[in-house]
Amino acid sequence: MPKLTVEGVGEFDVPMAKRLVLALTDEAKVDQLHACGGQARCTTCRVEFLAGEPPTMTPAEQKVLSERGLTGVRLSCQILCDHDMTVKIISRLAGSGRANAGPRPADVIPPS
Ligand code: FES
Repeated sequence: MPKLTVEGVGEFDVPMAKRLVLALTDEAKVDQLHACGGQARCTTCRVEFLAGEPPTMTPAEQKVLSERGLTGVRLSCQILCDHDMTVKIISRLAGSGRANAGPRPADVIPPS
């Protein structure tokens, strides 16, 4: 089982290949935003990697990060927990002014 470490929160065993956004929500119990429901549109699921950043991106993640000029962040809805990783939470419901974190993303990453 891959280990997910969330800075300031703890370490969690995550089922192999679970979407990172869902592991943050289910295992780490973080109020991670995912406003578009994991569709690679909103970028509110962004996290910073401290270790274990995946070397590849889905085409959808590449596209939206580039369109918005975002660097140094990754989209947790586009990443699978298939190895140990350490992330920093930077986009939470608390303090966002939003009514909720967003619709629950599907179990699998939609094709892009
Ligand atoms: S881009 Fe919207 S949830 Fe990931």
